[in-house]
Amino acid sequence: MNTAAQPAASASIVSMIQITFLSNNAKVVSAAEGGNLLRISLREQGGIPFKCGGGLCGTCKCLIETGLEHTDAVKPKERKHLSEEEMKQGYRMACQTFVNGDIAVSWQPRTAAR
Ligand code: FES
Repeated sequence: MNTAAQPAASASIVSMIQITFLSNNAKVVSAAEGGNLLRISLREQGGIPFKCGGGLCGTCKCLIETGLEHTDAVKPKERKHLSEEEMKQGYRMACQTFVNGDIAVSWQPRTAAR
């Protein structure tokens, strides 16, 4: 019996997008469309600060400077940390944000401990 495996024909084509980490010397990385912003930052050493990764601590607050239209809807968890005004300006929580197109993101570098 011929049991040679056939290559899977179900692989979907994933588009790549570009993320620019402005507060990290404008480092540019490419990532699969639809990825989580904090996860991309961790994988590519983008440098977005974080602690919990679960929408609780607020550490990952960042500003989507370009491409806000390429991010998904603001989650209820984000509303606990962001004012209406900040959301209008483009602030998001990286761990709660998924990106489906090119964006540029900045954040407040952590101030040195006193
Ligand atoms: S890392 Fe804690 S809220 Fe995003």
